[in-house]
Amino acid sequence: MPLLTWKPGFAVGVPAVDAEHEEMIALINEIYEEMKQRRDATSIEQFLGDVLFAISAHFALEERMMRDAAYGEYAAHKEDHEELLDQIRDLMDRFEADPDAGMDLLKDRLSAWFERHFATFDARLHGRLG
Ligand SMILES: [Fe+2]
Ligand SMILES: [Fe+2]
Repeated sequence: MPLLTWKPGFAVGVPAVDAEHEEMIALINEIYEEMKQRRDATSIEQFLGDVLFAISAHFALEERMMRDAAYGEYAAHKEDHEELLDQIRDLMDRFEADPDAGMDLLKDRLSAWFERHFATFDARLHGRLG
């Protein structure tokens, strides 16, 4: 069972954005699998670094769209992005110190963030900007 499952309700109707969201879900699922299978810590840490990079690039794209459109919810939306980036950094530290605690953090907090952010901030953003 993957940690996160793509749902039609996540679609925001902008194909490039939906593709990036699906890719983010796939990356999170892949890390979770590797953690569960107790892959060596160094490769998981490297992978987490790659995921942080991919997610940062996606956020930068959305934040540019919002700035270009002088979008009213920009500050709150960006703040929610920062929160996930903080959580991933926290996860990297936590995993290094205690892999089980890192896995719990991924399972509970990160997966909840995705469900909530897609359904709220991203749905509103792409509903407005198309
Ligand atoms: Fe977003
Ligand atoms: Fe997004």
